[in-house]
Amino acid sequence: MNTRIKITVLVENRSARRNLAAEHGLSLWIQIGRKHLLFDTGASGVAVRRNSKTLGAPIQKTHALILSHGHYDHTGGLAALESRLPDVPIFAHPDCLLPRYSHRHSGEVREIGMPLPSRAVLDRRKKWIRWVDGPRALFPGAGLTGKIQRRTSFEDTGGRFFLDSACRHPDPLWDDQALWIDTPRGLVLVFGCAHAGVVNAVEQVCRQLRVSRVFALVGGFHWGNASPGRLWKTGRALLRRGIQVLVPCHCSGEAAVHFFRRNFPFEIVSLTTGGEWNLPAAPCQPRQRRLPRFP
Ligand SMILES: [Fe+2]
Ligand SMILES: [Fe+2]
Repeated sequence: MNTRIKITVLVENRSARRNLAAEHGLSLWIQIGRKHLLFDTGASGVAVRRNSKTLGAPIQKTHALILSHGHYDHTGGLAALESRLPDVPIFAHPDCLLPRYSHRHSGEVREIGMPLPSRAVLDRRKKWIRWVDGPRALFPGAGLTGKIQRRTSFEDTGGRFFLDSACRHPDPLWDDQALWIDTPRGLVLVFGCAHAGVVNAVEQVCRQLRVSRVFALVGGFHWGNASPGRLWKTGRALLRRGIQVLVPCHCSGEAAVHFFRRNFPFEIVSLTTGGEWNLPAAPCQPRQRRLPRFP
């Protein structure tokens, strides 16, 4: 079981510090004991390179790179980071290479799949790719969900995503995967955009690992378009699984985060670029009351 967990946001949409670059995307630096994981690369890689130096995050010591899914804002930094990640296994679902489009409310159709330079990196480094479809252990106490089954009736991918530019074929985003970490406080789940739905992911991890409770969820939750009904059902489902802490960033949606703050007893720690989340220490055992001395 992993006792020291630290998650640093190398880049996300906002930055509270002038010397750290922000961009629409996500990249997390995750320290689990002596292991280091890079979870997504951001959109450009430039921000991650610069911020990791400023933050003192030695990304050249990465043990594994995880691509949560194929969207450009999570995979676009791969080319700029390639030289910093020699001989690092890359864990991704094969569908991350599919062409991807988003149909905006304005009517605009945008290409949002993995950019060509990142595809070229995967092509060059075939021997380092670990394609993930089902559950996959990374090392003792950490693993990937693989493809997440969609069982809830109230969760969807969170946007109008398609596999073709004519927007005829909806994109189920089967490549969306989450990372789980076993800790003394319980399981911690880390998401890129959570297109599969956080409740679907939590339920799948509970089935896979045969546990009934999860401690914390970290990352992008993609609740920007979620209806109040979905948010209520999500909150109740998370409470039933014993979740205590939510650490939202990237695409979680400020209104949704505010909703959970107002209506549910979760501890919520919003992170921006440069922010850190450390696994809180286990609560101290209440001190034993001293027994009165009897003569
Ligand atoms: Fe995203
Ligand atoms: Fe996404």
